[in-house]
Amino acid sequence: MIDTKKFKRRIVVTGGAGFIGSNLLLYLVPKYADYLFVNVDCLTYAGNLANLKPIENAPNYIFEKINICDLPLMQECIARYNVNGMIHLAAESHVDRSISGPGEFIKTNIIGTFTLLELARQKTEVTGDFRFHHVSTDEVYGSLGEKGSFTESSPYRPNSPYAASKAASDHLVRTFHKTYGLDVVTSNCSNNYGPYQFPEKFIPLIIRNAKSSLPLPVYGDGKNIRDWLYAEDHCRALDLVFHKGVSGQTYNIGGRNEIENVELARKVCRMMDEMLGGGPRAKLITFVKDRPGHDRRYAIDASYIRKELGWEPQFTFEEGLHSTIQWYLDNNDWLENCATGHYLQYYERMYANK
Ligand code: NAD
Ligand code: DAU
Repeated sequence: MIDTKKFKRRIVVTGGAGFIGSNLLLYLVPKYADYLFVNVDCLTYAGNLANLKPIENAPNYIFEKINICDLPLMQECIARYNVNGMIHLAAESHVDRSISGPGEFIKTNIIGTFTLLELARQKTEVTGDFRFHHVSTDEVYGSLGEKGSFTESSPYRPNSPYAASKAASDHLVRTFHKTYGLDVVTSNCSNNYGPYQFPEKFIPLIIRNAKSSLPLPVYGDGKNIRDWLYAEDHCRALDLVFHKGVSGQTYNIGGRNEIENVELARKVCRMMDEMLGGGPRAKLITFVKDRPGHDRRYAIDASYIRKELGWEPQFTFEEGLHSTIQWYLDNNDWLENCATGHYLQYYERMYANK
């Protein structure tokens, strides 16, 4: 039985076995030895406890396999560890899956967030001490034209079931602050890349396929633009927002690394050619049917978080991409373990629709 009194803060990180959650826990657990971190994750296809090996025996880390929609179990967890903070990342996160099956997105992203907010409200009423950090996405703002970037006051215009579910959860978080005075902060980040990202997402998918000389599927004309941020830089921003963010405020996070998808695929191929020899792997690029409702361009204006919290990304895109490719090459077993069962069936369906 853990003595929670010896920890200055007791923080639940939801979705801690996923891509960003793993990176976040690997960053926070060693940094804050006087905090207890409770990783709450129900381990969907995207959750992987192997990611957390370096900290699994740390005295300030605990894993709880719970679905965030399960109110009694979450209530019990919050009481048991006397939790006074939550960084909420658990979500269904893949846009393509939200198109083929939106139901789980509505459950986890909306009902799940609502469940956690209710529990945060209860705990706040009793102790007056609970911070809720909602980790969200720039996709809530919809699509940009050729110019401009998303600011914290951009209107919400979600275009996919995933984006709509995240937008709904952002609104619930805002509501709980305005109506019940809950201490909340929200961060909306652009596309992340780095170690531990499930290989259904574009960058690890391209690396995996290029490594195995498989086609590199690029949707539509390949000219859609994403604004990429190295996951560790996102984690540093989350740390700042959780600790220093103003209650009720939202913070946009992004790395100002805009690139067209096809250009990104070419860049990954060039880097892999240099690192591994052979190639050119760019000849594997294959244009496939476009994603329905595919947002054309995302770009984040991160000047507010820079000015208010002093956040700056520390990795250039070249550095981040190089170390990401190296990580996937060094962790081939991790990559291939993801690519079994559930994932492969999904992947084959996608090719069938080509
Ligand atoms: P991910 O899919 O890699 O991980 C999600 C994690 O949540 C998994 O471990 C999964 O098991 C867990 N989970 C899912 N449903 C759950 C439930 N009902 N109960 C408990 N656990 C559950 O996602 P990610 O890419 O790491 O994204 C994390 C968060 O960051 C999400 O909220 C996402 O919207 C947001 N975000 C992601 C990006 C990005 O580029 N990946 C960018 C901005 C914001
Ligand atoms: O912007 C933040 C969002 O970034 C997060 O909220 C999401 O959780 C995260 O998944 C990511 O969403 P995207 O849809 O932008 O990421 P994805 O990696 O799926 O796709 C990136 C771009 O690449 C997008 O324009 C679609 C395109 N793409 C994707 C895949 C999987 C392809 O061209 N081919 C592919 O096979």
